[in-house]
Amino acid sequence: MSEGDYRHQSRHKPSKNMKFFKKEAPNPQGGRSKKGVNHNNNVPVIEDSRKQVYHWQSEGGTKKSTVDDMVLLTKITESAITDNLKKRLMEDKIYTYIGPVLVAVNPFKQLPYFGSREIEMYQGAAQYEVPPHIYAVADTMYRNMLIDNDSQCVIISGESGAGKTVSAKFIMNYITKVSGGGTRVQEVKNVILESNPLLEAFGNAKTIRNNNSSRFGKYIEIQFSRGGEPIGGKISNFLLEKSRVHSLNERERNFHIFYQLISGASSEMKESFGLTTPDYYSYLSQSGVYRVDGTNDAHDFQETLRAMQVMGITNEVQNDILTIVAAILHMGNISFGEENNQAQVLDPGYLEYPAYLLGIDSQKLGHKLVSRVFDSKWGGKSDRIDVTLNSEQAQFTRDAWAKGLYSRLFDYVVETVNKAMVTDSNQLSIGILDIYGFEIFGRNGFEQFCINYVNEKLQQIFIELTLRSEQEEYQAEGIQWSPIEYFDNKVVCDLIESKRPPGIMCILDDTCATMSAVSQGADEDFLRKMESQVGSNPHYQKFSNGFVIKHYAGSVSYHLDSFCEKNRDVLFQDIIEVMQGSSNAFIRSLFPDVIQVGSKSRPTTAGTKIRTQANELVTTLTKCVPHYIRCIKPNESKKPHDWDDQMVKHQVEYLGLKENIKVKRAGFAYRRPFDKFLQRYAVLTKETFPAWHGDPIQGIHFIMRNINMDPGQYQIGRTKVFVKDPESLYMLEECRERKFDHYARVIQKTFRKYFSNQRYLKERQEASRLVHNRKERRSNSLNRNFYGDYIGVEYKQRISSLIPRREKVEFALTVDKFDRRFRRMKRDLILTKTNLYLVGRVKVQKGPEKGKVVDIIKRKIELENISQATLSTFQDDIVLLHVRNDYESLLDIRLKTEFLMVLNRKLKERFNKELPLNFVNSFEYRVRKTGWGGGGVKKVMFVEGNTSEPTFSSSGSCLTVRIGHGLPSSSEPGLQRVITPDIRMLANKKGPSMAKSHSNGHAPRMLNRDQRPPYPGPSPSGPRPALINTGHSYSTGSRTPDMGRPRIEPPRLPGMAPTGVHKITKSPSGPQFRLPVSNPPPPPSEPPPADTPTITPGTLRSRNGPPLPTRPDINRPKPRIPQVRALYSYDAHDTDELSFVEGDTLQLVREDASGWWTCKLRGSQGFCPANYLEKI
Ligand SMILES: Nc1ncnc2c1ncn2[C@@H]1O[C@H](COP(=O)(O)OP(=O)(O)OP(=O)(O)O)[C@@H](O)[C@H]1O
Ligand SMILES: [Mg+2]
Repeated sequence: MSEGDYRHQSRHKPSKNMKFFKKEAPNPQGGRSKKGVNHNNNVPVIEDSRKQVYHWQSEGGTKKSTVDDMVLLTKITESAITDNLKKRLMEDKIYTYIGPVLVAVNPFKQLPYFGSREIEMYQGAAQYEVPPHIYAVADTMYRNMLIDNDSQCVIISGESGAGKTVSAKFIMNYITKVSGGGTRVQEVKNVILESNPLLEAFGNAKTIRNNNSSRFGKYIEIQFSRGGEPIGGKISNFLLEKSRVHSLNERERNFHIFYQLISGASSEMKESFGLTTPDYYSYLSQSGVYRVDGTNDAHDFQETLRAMQVMGITNEVQNDILTIVAAILHMGNISFGEENNQAQVLDPGYLEYPAYLLGIDSQKLGHKLVSRVFDSKWGGKSDRIDVTLNSEQAQFTRDAWAKGLYSRLFDYVVETVNKAMVTDSNQLSIGILDIYGFEIFGRNGFEQFCINYVNEKLQQIFIELTLRSEQEEYQAEGIQWSPIEYFDNKVVCDLIESKRPPGIMCILDDTCATMSAVSQGADEDFLRKMESQVGSNPHYQKFSNGFVIKHYAGSVSYHLDSFCEKNRDVLFQDIIEVMQGSSNAFIRSLFPDVIQVGSKSRPTTAGTKIRTQANELVTTLTKCVPHYIRCIKPNESKKPHDWDDQMVKHQVEYLGLKENIKVKRAGFAYRRPFDKFLQRYAVLTKETFPAWHGDPIQGIHFIMRNINMDPGQYQIGRTKVFVKDPESLYMLEECRERKFDHYARVIQKTFRKYFSNQRYLKERQEASRLVHNRKERRSNSLNRNFYGDYIGVEYKQRISSLIPRREKVEFALTVDKFDRRFRRMKRDLILTKTNLYLVGRVKVQKGPEKGKVVDIIKRKIELENISQATLSTFQDDIVLLHVRNDYESLLDIRLKTEFLMVLNRKLKERFNKELPLNFVNSFEYRVRKTGWGGGGVKKVMFVEGNTSEPTFSSSGSCLTVRIGHGLPSSSEPGLQRVITPDIRMLANKKGPSMAKSHSNGHAPRMLNRDQRPPYPGPSPSGPRPALINTGHSYSTGSRTPDMGRPRIEPPRLPGMAPTGVHKITKSPSGPQFRLPVSNPPPPPSEPPPADTPTITPGTLRSRNGPPLPTRPDINRPKPRIPQVRALYSYDAHDTDELSFVEGDTLQLVREDASGWWTCKLRGSQGFCPANYLEKI
């Protein structure tokens, strides 16, 4: 582990009672939310993330039977690890940590927690706050890279089918989603994502282990600007298993592209490429498997074509590429007979198509398949002679030709991807290593030998960095430590790659160097040499036709067939010459080889290539800060929830997870050299800041004591300080952050003071322009600074959690929204660069949080859909927002001019349009259509009054606003600035003092009119009073807090005339109120939002007189049988209400004087309007 990777460690901390997986709520269409596979990169996506509930939210308090981080296991045995992983998988939790290492179990099904909501959730989140997830690893890498300026890499390992490629795609997806960028960056992101389907088409195949097995290794580096935008990328590919082109194992397929082409080609393509059914081609028919469950080759073909387009491959070149794919298929159908020990093409007709497609002469092709040119030397003069081949050799030549073509094509594809995302800047990068997994087949050849060798190397890096070096460091630093035993697979790596004494690869190269052109007997020779040179190695064992290597992941028997030939990996020179004579320029370009007749130098063997690549890879990886994902395959059946205990235990063993846990548990989360530690934390004390000049150890002790660090939590080594638990590190980091925060505020304040004058003038002009000559002004309006966020959204977790993190809050203010009866509802209006949100509150109806009032988004309007705003010409603050193809919102926005200015600015920035503003004193608008009583058109009239605060009166569907004249509309805001408290700072202030004085969590208000008593907290009885009177007027100036659910009028029966004034009783909470009955009965309104001084009876004022009295209690006899019948149907307007239909019998749980009764119906409990009910 690197010194600076303390951030990884944060995952040590268990997330108490947190469960991660979401339940899906039914979508509005009645179906389940749509799950799907993004065919671009096969990453599961959730399209509908509305109303999703997290398990940890609904199952809070339940006991956890598994641990998120296995460092916390009580028993550290392979069985306990396996058991923990199993239980978690059964609960669909596939991710578990071992400290910073992520263990990922393949679920073999799409899980719902990879949507945009999770992407939001993991961005910048402290890792102990959120459940284990691959996004957390991706986020850590991305953020570490930006903060520490260090390149990162993630090594994804695991056996074939364990989920490495899927994991790699999740990471790429996450990183491209969270990083910003302009057009070029978007192009790069597109190339990165689209490289997946393209490379998979050419490099993946169905094997018995995995239907989409990577038959090549890939290391993709995403390169970033200093600002974290992906500006380029680079893919290194390793050893394509090209023998698959001509030889298939049972139940396996060739590379996907062959089947894609056959199923997806257009009829013209089919005709020109001579395509028919796959069983016609012997390269495909050997295994008899043509289809793969869950794969649609024709569809994937379109993906491949699209990906080629994204890479900038022209239609002509696409055609050339597919021509070669088709040519290879046809080539495989050329078969040979033998006459006088000489190969003959059985049916020369089969030469025509491949020759035509490759742009070569068919006779030449036939000739080159049955003979070969050799260089020979006679008396110092080199000569070339044509030697005839037997049928076996001819077949070998054909296959070598086909795979040579394919591998060059594959390299071309990789190179094209690289060109499409090339950049000169190489500052920061995130590398993702997705290499073929360790594999054991019934018969293992040279390819498996190379694949397993690379996996040995990766295991070495893991051991090196997580087990060995960590322990060695403790020893070197003199830290108290009991060593932990582990199997170090270096011995196996040496057995394979060592140069001195020669390991298997060297022996193989030597054998190849001395082998004749036709490789008879070479493999046996190789086996003999191995026996004499490595025969005594305990990890090596010979058998009659091959050898066994005891790998870290198990013993594998390798059969010798063509080991030497495959290692030599040469395409004969005369074949290259033929291809260089092709009439197709693209094909010629794939063979740029310079042929040197009589060259003495040995060509590089495949073994040497892979060994060099593997070692280069190790060097590259060790230059980055490494992260690890250990993928586990839970079964061979590829079925969800199927668990093969033995199989998993074996993986747990060979991956060294137990040792990993032990080292992590006993180890230290964080270490830093003295000077770096002092540099980072010097700020914590006056004495050490800006620099400590004394003894470093004393300085460290000084800092630690100063922040009250438990002495057991750190040790000081010879050159480094070690911190034990991540929590202690958080403490250090938090103290540091607080200090920085403090200083940042000082700087900000100075900055603000300096620049605010200029900004103030500019903004004021911009705002004033909108209303100048159109609307009267309040005195002193606009003579203030614009703060934007008057709520302090960032610090109100319950609100900020509703707004996507990426959406910067541009304006936020608590406003009043008028409902369809002109009742005021408190809403938090939040304007971001893309949306306008109206946040309100409701009571939770079910689950452990039942009864709690929570914030929800009541309305979300995309900015581009805001078509205009209507205002009066008076000095009031009423704003009607018009929304394209939707109902309007009538709002009372105290800081309307600032709001309109910001909104207008955003519309200009994003859509290059201005917000149309109407100034009229009478307008109509539509209200939302919801259930009973919804919809319809309302009218608002503004008339001259004599107070500067408006009074509101409603009659039927018309609201009258009376207001006195303000300053003339032509007046300019004064130069004198009104001193207002820095409410933004107040709103943002954290800490207990704030919580105490504003228990509701809202920021204090700056303006007199809003200096209202705080809302007393969630009322047990719920929604505010319903304003059901007509003809009453009220003023916003004298609102009092809502104290409970409304008293509502009992309904009159249909057809009955209004009963007029209802009985008056004394209200305990205020004066009495006469209430005329309305018809139909008004549904009660929604619960009061926090600190909402809504219109309560006590706040209503008659037109001329004192506040009207409150309504009487509903005088009903106490029920004997607690049952009620519904007199009318009622559609719940909020989540804590019950819907019922006329005639339903409900259980009466609790009566309430407010008129909202708690009832039960069909197992659900909620509030019901009493005036809709009749006691039985
Ligand atoms: N997180 C996951 N969610 C859903 N399915 C998964 C997940 N991980 C893996 N799978 C399933 O398992 C299959 C195999 O995974 P993948 O191709 O990533 O394996 P691999 O480790 O790359 O194997 P190989 O070494 O053969 O390339 C995938 O095609 C997919 O069906
Ligand atoms: Mg793979």
